[in-house]
Amino acid sequence: MKKIILSLIVAASAYASTELFVKSDENILKLKDANVYFGSPATLVKEKGKSKVVKFQGFIDPANPSVIYATKNYKLPLVESKDIKADGEKASIELEIPSQNLTADQALAWEDSGDIFYDKCTKCHGVHAPKEFDMLSWEGLYFSMKDRAQPTDNQEMQILRYLYAHASDGILDEK
Ligand code: HEC
Repeated sequence: MKKIILSLIVAASAYASTELFVKSDENILKLKDANVYFGSPATLVKEKGKSKVVKFQGFIDPANPSVIYATKNYKLPLVESKDIKADGEKASIELEIPSQNLTADQALAWEDSGDIFYDKCTKCHGVHAPKEFDMLSWEGLYFSMKDRAQPTDNQEMQILRYLYAHASDGILDEK
């Protein structure tokens, strides 16, 4: 009995720490009741056949309560939905997502956006690593460089998400 309980505890904690990332060819993965942004981290709640129920957690802007952002500066959106559960400034939502749109490999989920950033933003100068600046600084720097880099709208979202996620006050380290 003791052994069973112990292994249950180990299994439960391993489960709780399973971090997954949204992998999508589109910038935004459209589900029935939610729009999920590529690269967003989530934790596994349960397996469900060819899909998984995952939980997204973050912060909510009272002025715009249908979006969960990764951090309190509301720069990196994770999920848009009417079904977000808010608890003060914190918010979460559980969503069922096709397993093919989730990966435990952070680098894979962020690969395309990183490629676009490095392609568009190293034509005239060396790499400025995302960690060099915080999100707010990147926002200003990006818009001062935008005319030079001439990204499409699609590429703009990818570059900005890549910079914000990996910024000095972002949520991820580059892999
Ligand atoms: C057409 C050339 C060109 C492209 C493309 C370009 N840059 Fe720049 N960048 C410059 C020049 C020139 C400077 C230095 C002078 C300046 O700051 O205006 C610079 C400076 C910078 C700096 C340093 C600013 C500082 O204050 O230290 C950063 C960061 C930067 N660029 C980021 C980017 C990003 C991000 C992109 C892609 C969206 C990009 N650059 C694309 C020409 C370019």
